[in-house]
Amino acid sequence: MQINNIDDYQKGIKKVLITEQEIKAALKKAGEFVDSLYDGRPILLVSVLKGAYVFMADLSREITVPCEIGFMCVKSYFEGTSSSGTVNIVMDLDRDVSNYHVVIAEDIIDTGRTLKKLVEILRQRNPLSLHVVTLLDKPDRRVVDMKADMSLFVIPDHFVIGYGLDAAEYYRTLPYIAQFCED
Ligand code: IMP
Ligand code: MG
Repeated sequence: MQINNIDDYQKGIKKVLITEQEIKAALKKAGEFVDSLYDGRPILLVSVLKGAYVFMADLSREITVPCEIGFMCVKSYFEGTSSSGTVNIVMDLDRDVSNYHVVIAEDIIDTGRTLKKLVEILRQRNPLSLHVVTLLDKPDRRVVDMKADMSLFVIPDHFVIGYGLDAAEYYRTLPYIAQFCED
């Protein structure tokens, strides 16, 4: 994909799958879900850069329990279809999570491998509790057993862009989620 101008850019947007309004309504429910889990207790909301940055910002404003935020950046190395592999932490949290109720805000669960490893890594640090909320879920693509506590949208096996998700680093800034035109 070569983007030299606005026409190239717009060609990549095949069709809108989830509108801004639909995202807003789902965020409200997700905020209520997180509130209901913790009943007023403070949490640490963790997002995995870069894809989840928009989702985390909007979700955090629908949560009413006391909320700290943290960021991690990970790189995954997996070979073929094997479910083994490693997740390298490129940027780690800046605090010990053992005194925190942790909620991971993820952009999308695809094969599930990255999130599964990340959950393993965080569990080893003994948080008070650990939950996962994902914006999007593509269950057809799963190769390891990984389920979020809440998925805002379950989508078919399409490559999607927008609302934080990219194709070659573009389209993250779209306010909606669209199917990417790969041809
Ligand atoms: P996996 O679940 O380990 O396969 O990796 C999921 C990661 O791949 C997500 O966090 C995204 O960064 C990226 N990804 C998977 N599917 C898509 C998509 O449709 N659009 C954009 N990024 C995607
Ligand atoms: Mg991600």
